[in-house]
Parts: sequence; structure tokens; C-alpha cells
Amino acid sequence: MDPRLFREGTRVILYDADRIPHPGDIPFDHRASADPEPVVGGGRGTVWRVRVNDLLAALRHYRRGGMVRRLIRSAYLWTGLERTRAFLEWRLLAELHAEGMPVPAPLAARVVRTAFWYRAELLTEWLPGTRSLVSLLADSEPDARTWRRVGATLRRFHLAGIWHADLNAHNILIDQDGAVYLVDFDRGRRRRRDGRWARKNLGRLRRSLEKVHATGRALYYTPAGWRALLDGYAGYEASS
Ligand SMILES: Nc1ncnc2c1ncn2[C@@H]1O[C@H](COP(=O)(O)OP(=O)(O)O)[C@@H](O)[C@H]1O
Ligand SMILES: [Mg+2]
Repeated sequence: MDPRLFREGTRVILYDADRIPHPGDIPFDHRASADPEPVVGGGRGTVWRVRVNDLLAALRHYRRGGMVRRLIRSAYLWTGLERTRAFLEWRLLAELHAEGMPVPAPLAARVVRTAFWYRAELLTEWLPGTRSLVSLLADSEPDARTWRRVGATLRRFHLAGIWHADLNAHNILIDQDGAVYLVDFDRGRRRRRDGRWARKNLGRLRRSLEKVHATGRALYYTPAGWRALLDGYAGYEASS
């Protein structure tokens, strides 16, 4: 990992020079990529799979959620480059990835400033063969082992003091071998390990699972699945 800055007018790009030789060519607009693929499913629907030279990457435009969204779609108040959502997420992912946590490596973040506002994008390495937990639950009932692995992964993050600001089943990805990853660390950060936020974090995930189940999407979500997740959570040891 070789983080570098590239400035061009009102744009600043933070990128890993080990993996991206020419920051000027990064497709922060998906239309600049060869065969871009929209990622359908959860979230705010603004992720594309794009190509950066020979790498596949997930491209996300930062978009507002909640009520403000009606007024302001994608502009955020400028309070300094290192405090932009994109730079914070990039730096957190770089740290986590270096520590061996199961997150995608960050490739590049771009911030475009206009006076008091900025817009931003983030590119992370594509996690091949993964599906979100919601998409798995739409098709079949995961076995108890898969649920336990999800639980163990969450415990691993919590023990490392990492708080995911939007822990829901769209942000949990699982590959064909059952390996579990977390994505979408917008506003995530490190916290003291006092345990209370960790419980709240799990509670939030459970409510999100119940909600997607109630709307008919995560059809195969069951309380037994949740219990297996908690089992995996409780049984995870930092050394394992
Ligand atoms: N690095 C990645 N590799 C593979 N799929 C990804 C990756 N990042 C995101 N995705 C897919 O895109 C979806 C949305 O991405 P996410 O970062 O959560 O953005 P948002 O929730 O803001 O739309 C995820 O649920 C996942 O299915
Ligand atoms: Mg998401």
C-alpha cells in the first residue's frame, strides 16, 4: 500500500500507487469504464462495478440519506480534506485491510470541491464471488455454519473496537466458500471497547433483518438463524 495524493484543479484523489499507476485514468464516472455493471440490491443504489486497468472495482458515489436527500442529493459541507467522508472511509479501510480484517482494500477516493461543498466517490477492490446476506436469504436458508461465521466476523470487528455506522444485511457479503466480509464503512470509526455500542450494533442488524424479512425480501431469515449468529459471536476467540 502506497497512499498518495493527486491534485487537479478542484479535485483531489487519494489512491494506492501500488495498484493504480495513473490516477488521472480512474473511472470515477462509471461511463468512463469498459463494461460498467450496476450493482442492484440494497443501499442507495449508486454502486457500479467498474474496471481500472486490469482490476475490478466497486465505485460508490456518496449520496445523502434521510430527509435532506430531497433538498441536497450528493453535496456535503466542506470542513477539510481529511474530514471528507471519502477520505475518512478510505483511510479507515486502508488500516483495517492492513490489519487483515475482512474488508475490501481501498483503491481510490476522489473529492471535488465547490466553495463550501464537496462531492465524493470511493473505489474499493471488487470482492469476487460475493453476495450480500440479503441476497442469500432471498434464495435459500443458510446453514448454521454460515450464520456462525457471520457472528464470529462481527465479534472480530467489535473486539478490534471497530464500529460500523450502518450495520445491516446489505453490508455483509459472503463468498462461495462462506468467507464473510463487511463493506460500506461510511462514518464508521474506532471506539472504546466498552461493549454497549457493540450490543446496539447487533440489535440494529437484527432489526434490519426482521425488516427485510417482513417486506418479503430476506424470505429465509429465521430466529434460529439469528441464534446461530449469536452463537458464533459468543464463541469467537480473538486468537481463532
Ligand atoms: N468491494 C465490493 N465488492 C463486491 N461487491 C460490493 C463491494 N462494495 C459494495 N458491493 C455491493 O454493492 C452494494 C452497495 O454497496 P455499499 O458500499 O454498501 O453502498 P450503499 O449502501 O451506499 O449503496 C453492497 O451491498 C454489495 O452488494
Ligand atoms: Mg451499504
